[in-house]
Amino acid sequence: MTRVIAVANQKGGAGKSTVTVNLAVALGQAGRSTLVVDIDPQFDSTAMFGLSPESATGTIADVFLGESEAGEALMTSVTENVDLLVGDGRMADVELTLVSQVRREEFLAEALREVQGDYDLVLIDCPPNLGLLTVNGFLAADEVLVPISMVDRNAYKGAATLLSTLQTLRRRRVSVETLGLLRNNVDERRNTYQTLNEALPALDAPLLDAQIPMRAGFHDATTEGIPLVVRKPDGRAAQAFRELAAEIQARSATHTTTLAEAA
Ligand SMILES: Nc1ncnc2c1ncn2[C@@H]1O[C@H](COP(=O)(O)OP(=O)(O)OP(=O)(O)O)[C@@H](O)[C@H]1O
Ligand SMILES: [Mg+2]
Repeated sequence: MTRVIAVANQKGGAGKSTVTVNLAVALGQAGRSTLVVDIDPQFDSTAMFGLSPESATGTIADVFLGESEAGEALMTSVTENVDLLVGDGRMADVELTLVSQVRREEFLAEALREVQGDYDLVLIDCPPNLGLLTVNGFLAADEVLVPISMVDRNAYKGAATLLSTLQTLRRRRVSVETLGLLRNNVDERRNTYQTLNEALPALDAPLLDAQIPMRAGFHDATTEGIPLVVRKPDGRAAQAFRELAAEIQARSATHTTTLAEAA
């Protein structure tokens, strides 16, 4: 069964796009067919694959504007087993026009319905706010993956705000689980890392075992438009993403078993 995962954190620079793209590569290399959906008007995950809205025959904005079906707009095989619904700067305008529309929060969920069954996993790269596009991401998703920058002193407060937003949605009967908090930008020697690492369990959300190390190579990979997991497959960062991919797949198995036992 397809799992749809929103990668979200309203804090800018937490690593949402980096994690979306490199996790997709790792999942694809492990043989899992994966769709990346770039809903952020900054379209960073699209750029990280070396692509641009201009280079695509269709984008996520065309889908939101009703000019294209998701299946027609997506770009296939951007890397092994990975398709991409290309991002678009016009999504900033789309968000404004959505405000006045009926079922404005369910637009993405409806648009993805016809294509998501073709994939094992769908990863949605959300913008750095809790606005209407991110809420569309939450309603389209089964689970939310929350990257946390372990060099950001305010990361704890940011994650707490995000988790409480998810709680509010659940109270409104939106079924979206917290897949986990993912420690990104990890340098274990730093005080900020140690302080955050001690504080995070108090958030009462699953803390993933895999941790993504701080590596300058992520920035270079973005400039070149080649994800680091592709560019340096033998590096520690690529290894961390393979561990993350395996952990996420194992969590799904545990979850399914628990449900089966409960039935
Ligand atoms: N583990 C890491 N090590 C070093 N640099 C990183 C790491 N993760 C992300 N970065 C860098 O931090 C910056 C922000 O990362 P990224 O764009 O993935 O974050 P984001 O949460 O998607 O940002 P935004 O909120 O703007 O969408 C980028 O320059 C990226 O290369
Ligand atoms: Mg981003």
